Amino acid sequence: MNAGLVHLEAGGTSLVLDARGDGLPAVLHWGGALGDQDQADLSALADAVSRQTPPATLDSAWQLSLIPLEADGWSGRPGLQVSRGGVEVRTRWQLLELTSDDAACVVVAADADAGLRLRTRVEVAESGLVWVSHTLHNVSDDPALLAVDWLEATLPVPTSTTHATTLDGRWSREKRPVTSRIAAGATTRTSRRGRPGHDAPTFVLLSEGLPQWNTGRSWGTHAAWPADVTYRVDRVTDAVTLIGAGELLRPGEVALAPGDEYAAPSVAFAYSASGLDGIAARFHTWLRARPHHPSTPRPFTLNTWEAVYFDHDPQKIEQLVARASELGVERFVLDDGWFRGRRDDTTSLGDWEVDEDVWPNGLRPLADRVRSFGMQFGLWVEPEMISLDSELARSHSDWLLHDPRHLDHDPALSWRTQFVLDLAEPAAYAHILQRLDALIDEIGIDYLKWDHNRDLTEAVHAGRPGTHAHTRAVLRLIAELKSRHPGLEIESCSSGGARTDLGILDVTDRVWASDSNDPVERLDIQRWTGLLLPPELIGAHVGPTTSHSSGRTTDLSFRMAVSLMGSAGIEWDILSCTAEETATLARFAALYRELRPLMHNAVVSHRDLRDPAWRVTSFTAPDGSAAAVVIATLAGLEDARPERLRLSGLDPRRRYRVAVREELGTPKAGWVIPPWLSSGGIVLSGAALTEVGLQLPALWPMQGIVLHLTALR
Ligand code: DGJ
Repeated sequence: MNAGLVHLEAGGTSLVLDARGDGLPAVLHWGGALGDQDQADLSALADAVSRQTPPATLDSAWQLSLIPLEADGWSGRPGLQVSRGGVEVRTRWQLLELTSDDAACVVVAADADAGLRLRTRVEVAESGLVWVSHTLHNVSDDPALLAVDWLEATLPVPTSTTHATTLDGRWSREKRPVTSRIAAGATTRTSRRGRPGHDAPTFVLLSEGLPQWNTGRSWGTHAAWPADVTYRVDRVTDAVTLIGAGELLRPGEVALAPGDEYAAPSVAFAYSASGLDGIAARFHTWLRARPHHPSTPRPFTLNTWEAVYFDHDPQKIEQLVARASELGVERFVLDDGWFRGRRDDTTSLGDWEVDEDVWPNGLRPLADRVRSFGMQFGLWVEPEMISLDSELARSHSDWLLHDPRHLDHDPALSWRTQFVLDLAEPAAYAHILQRLDALIDEIGIDYLKWDHNRDLTEAVHAGRPGTHAHTRAVLRLIAELKSRHPGLEIESCSSGGARTDLGILDVTDRVWASDSNDPVERLDIQRWTGLLLPPELIGAHVGPTTSHSSGRTTDLSFRMAVSLMGSAGIEWDILSCTAEETATLARFAALYRELRPLMHNAVVSHRDLRDPAWRVTSFTAPDGSAAAVVIATLAGLEDARPERLRLSGLDPRRRYRVAVREELGTPKAGWVIPPWLSSGGIVLSGAALTEVGLQLPALWPMQGIVLHLTALR
């Protein structure tokens, strides 16, 4: 079949497929938009990028297909690896069908000899984000199971790319960027934790030169899957460079009987000609266009964890509720410690009944009290987990998602003294669904903080590796709860930010970016989480003066400035605050409420400044009518007179009032205090702010200020 050349374009991104041959289409271009192209233009483009035949390579000219295989003359990592009876099944796809419109196409191909059928959807979304989704169908009569080792989505990027960036990290220090020269050959970064993990790659991103926030071309990919993943880069000298991602499967984890299919997780690809901010903008725009993207103002939240930990004293918690409402809190979340027997982290996961020794009248009165102040009531749960010391484990020891041979309290499998509940087991699934469903109704829950505090280790379901089946069940469970309780919101927490991918965000409404409330750590954790997620989806709370996770002491103004950059709130024993701190927090809550319509719909930009101590993030209205700019320092500045801050996204012809918001208190600065900072504001044109900039103040280390720009009529 010859389906011609296909040009998909949307949101400033083009993708050109060559479907003139019998096999799967080849990808000729993924990058900047090409505008109108007829078949003759596309045919010339195909000639322009056609392969030469250098010495010591295959003779015939070929291009890499949507799933690069050895049959394409590809010596990098294949896009698909399958076998029957332990023997590799090689595929030669035959294109059966290709339907397309301006921005999406569906390709159906088959290999009759191999007994396989493939359906691939490629879509360029309005945001310019490209989504690739593959589904493989075993259509063979051969009763031998088809073992799927992997089915990954890949796209080519120019060989002019030089650097690869992925993320790394650990508990309370998630999303640390790692940039290196692109390695030769096939490189993979994997996550084998059953959750993306604190060190999750999250992205692989190739750039021409070191990646910058505001400038430069880059190509990135992200897998929408909240479990084991493989990110990959292929640089081979006789073919184009590829990036891609897919689900990491263990041997035998997906084995298709005749008639079965495997839908690989969808993988997103983002191209930017304006640095990392351009990559982030594509994801943010895409997320915000989803019908289920949170559309109500993101509530100012108080979470009880660092205020009381497991020490649930109803009287104190009632006092916290009252104080929270005085401060302007809009959502009160009762964290871990409320259920039967849970006095520390060694017991009771799975026993989702209110502990009547602590809460003799249940939690309904507390939830009602919270609501009587006009706040929402949120509750912490960890439904995918089970403590061996629980009624659930005592009655259903067979519901654990672990290798049964190693389960006899093997300390190697224990993590925070807890184990994983096998939600792919229908009875376990039904039990948890029923318990959560009932709790939501009984207590009146508006919000669940859905935690997940351990890796999956040797996950076994029905005698096979079980991460895939368990993860599908988790996604189904959350979706089912949300459909039974319209309006219920769910936060994805995983010992902080170990599960913040677009797969879990398909069914949840916010992520808890980290267990570190230390603003120094969080500035970068939030910044890099923001490469994928817009600020309204990133939980960011003001913690205590001395951070519980790092021991660092910081100014309240700095902690508030960092919290303002996300879905803000407090995680601090506010009963211990001084009168001045209490008043400042109340002013902060009001500032957050005022600025959130701007910041939660904004284009986010991180200024590339010379001095690495600066962290400047601007949140600009898409129409350029206003902006909030958070200016922060991590360390002592290099210069006595720092550089100027040039802004972007403003209308050069309009004039803007630029003022420091004083709700956060007075920043500590050295002797060079520019007049615009000390005299209550200044009016400047968009052109001056863009081309000349503002003299940055010589802030002390670990300070934060917020500028508010409003366009004059
Ligand atoms: C880990 C979470 O990240 C914390 O915020 C808190 O909810 C604890 N779990 C509770 O056990």
